[in-house]
Amino acid sequence: MTYRATISAAAHYLPRRIVTNAELEKTVKTNDEWIRSRTGIAERRMVAEDEATSHMGINSAVQILEKTGINAAEIEVIIVGTVTPDMFFPSTAALVQDAIGADNAWAFDLNAACSGFIFSLETAAGLIASGNYQKILVIGGDTMTSVLDYEDRTTCILFGDGAGAVLLEPTDGEDGIIDSIMFTDGSGGSRLYMPAGGSRRPATRETVDQRLHYLKQDGREVFKSAVRGMVDASEILLSRNGLSGNDLKLFIPHQANKRIIDASAKRLGLNEEQVLVNIERVANTTAGTIPIGLSEAVADGRLKEGDFLLLAAFGAGFTWGATLIRWGQCR
Ligand code: UT7
Repeated sequence: MTYRATISAAAHYLPRRIVTNAELEKTVKTNDEWIRSRTGIAERRMVAEDEATSHMGINSAVQILEKTGINAAEIEVIIVGTVTPDMFFPSTAALVQDAIGADNAWAFDLNAACSGFIFSLETAAGLIASGNYQKILVIGGDTMTSVLDYEDRTTCILFGDGAGAVLLEPTDGEDGIIDSIMFTDGSGGSRLYMPAGGSRRPATRETVDQRLHYLKQDGREVFKSAVRGMVDASEILLSRNGLSGNDLKLFIPHQANKRIIDASAKRLGLNEEQVLVNIERVANTTAGTIPIGLSEAVADGRLKEGDFLLLAAFGAGFTWGATLIRWGQCR
């Protein structure tokens, strides 16, 4: 017997500080018009000095506990999708576990960049399917401002900080994660990466001087691959479940560029109301985009029981995939 996993609660956290395009214009050779027209971004959030990825994850997790009324001790697993952990180790998931008092949970981080949340969700759904777990906390979030090079205008304008979380539980109803498909193509690794700081090039004065501890991206190549990857994964899921774009209540794509979102939605035959877009306010929060979007959709009452929801992501690795969900009761 396998058990289907369903999302029973969703929450998110955005740092208070808003960085507008106008503010960036003061220090970066860019302008509001270029950023808006090329990316759809108007502003992004930035953590306070004493905040990091764990703080955003903890805040989201605490909201889930408050909404559901469950005790932290009932959580059995915590997975944090992130590429900007507070530290290399211990994991950010372990920091969350301690902070919320989830004394019976084992916890680990999962590194799949912008696909970090859907890869984590897939991992958690597999654990639920085993029948051994009843309550798993899945968090996706990143502090991208910690790895941005503010001398590189092609990347520093794109990203922001934020996190979201969901509670995953087994269901015996029709709701839950119906199907999913995940991919990795490591040959795309050098198109979007952080060259130093790991075991290959540990931090030295030289690596710092050469600005190698910042995100590097081949924007055009990532753009093309992102549209192709998210559309291909989505089409496979829709067709093998006998669905078309018309059947979707909501599509929550990774928020990297409004033009990537629009191109993907167009190829899937979706209209504007079917697509969640928050990039203008939040920018690209890497593993945070999908759980933040999901939590906002729940708060706005955009999802009703029985609705079909499709999540799709693409990111460094390359990693990409999609998750098809029939919506249930979610707080
Ligand atoms: O989630 C995974 C991560 N994925 C992504 O972040 C998305 C991938 N890529 C993209 O979103 C887009 O490729 C970018 C937004 C990064 C770039 O947009 P583009 O339309 O591909 O622009 P481009 O790289 O072709 O650059 C066009 C021009 C260049 O000037 P020249 O060479 O034509 O004179 C750039 O130097 O725009 C210039 N430019 C800028 N100008 C003002 C690049 N960045 C900026 C900037 N402000 N911030």
